[in-house]
Amino acid sequence: RLEAVIFDLDGVITDSAEFHYLAWQALADELGLPFSREKNERLKGVSRMESLEIVLEGSELARLPEAEKLRLAGKKNDHYRQMIGRITPADLLPGIPELLDSLRERGISVGLASASLNAPQILERLGAAHWFQAIADAAELRKGKPDPEIFLQAAELLGVTPGNCIGVEDAAAGVAAIRAAGMKAVGIGAAEQLGAADLVLPSTAALDAGKLLELFGH
Ligand code: BG6
Ligand code: MG
Repeated sequence: RLEAVIFDLDGVITDSAEFHYLAWQALADELGLPFSREKNERLKGVSRMESLEIVLEGSELARLPEAEKLRLAGKKNDHYRQMIGRITPADLLPGIPELLDSLRERGISVGLASASLNAPQILERLGAAHWFQAIADAAELRKGKPDPEIFLQAAELLGVTPGNCIGVEDAAAGVAAIRAAGMKAVGIGAAEQLGAADLVLPSTAALDAGKLLELFGH
């Protein structure tokens, strides 16, 4: 029985994945490092400091002391926070408000499993916090996606069994985390990247409660 749906935030609830990309691109430009959409795929779902390592990969800067790396990650976050400061409820991705309403009507719990320390602020700006009964705390995580920890934490906060949950993700690392948590996975994006999911949809516009219930044979 489907008890809960646990959502990723960036790229699933709102298009902040694009802001992460633009913020890393701005930092890479400042540092004179190459960066691309392809490389950006590897950053999706990955923590800020791990993402920085991928951005610096292959450059001298990869050997900077930790304090300097923290400063660079802080610069990226400054760019990012400027962008998310303009988010409004109109930035909820297509179909998301309807889906969240419909899950609520059916008594299915809703949780958030975002690796982003900025997630609570983004939910507030979107006016979306009221739909979520539990928000996993990215600051408490020992292991990032693809480790299942964050999805298991959200399920525990909701008081539900992982096997009765669906996770929704736009990142390959996130789909892997959902599967490792023993949940059913829905991927939003290209089958090339998200083929490991139980269901892949091109966009949130194609996502509705009926499709989620079907995964449990309802
Ligand atoms: C994830 C994003 O949700 O959060 C990653 O997919 C991002 O791209 C990570 O690096 C951490 O976000 P933040 O806001 O804490 O830097
Ligand atoms: Mg994401």
